[in-house]
Amino acid sequence: MDNIIFHQLFEKETSTYTYILGCGKTHEAIIIDPVVEMVERDLKLIEELGLKLKYVLDTHVHADHVTGSGEIRKRTGARVAVSSAYDMSCPDLHLEDNQELKFDELTVRALHTPGHTSGCLSYVVANMVFTVDALLIRGCGRTDLQ
Ligand SMILES: [Fe+2]
Repeated sequence: MDNIIFHQLFEKETSTYTYILGCGKTHEAIIIDPVVEMVERDLKLIEELGLKLKYVLDTHVHADHVTGSGEIRKRTGARVAVSSAYDMSCPDLHLEDNQELKFDELTVRALHTPGHTSGCLSYVVANMVFTVDALLIRGCGRTDLQ
């Protein structure tokens, strides 16, 4: 755990948490659930931390927040990944349940956690799991929005 750089960021209009995780040795990194209005903030922090962004991961696709993944890809060259359950052509990677992506010494594993949307993924890194709207403390995300 001591080789992980970890930052939790918050966007209050849509109550969205964004996570930046990086390898403390080689500085390859991922970002989970960027919000389009906050791309400048996120890229500034990534630059300040000296990180090299490898993947942009969306837990789900939803009208309640617009992802910043496309803009971040354009500006960093990072590859965008979402669940294979979505019929979308714009992501670079369509992740299956239990599929793993490496960023240097770290691994992020996708878990298919449908319910809030049919394509919700949770992401596991070391002993952390990023469930976002799929699983909340004492609850779960609404399942009646789509
Ligand atoms: Fe959502």
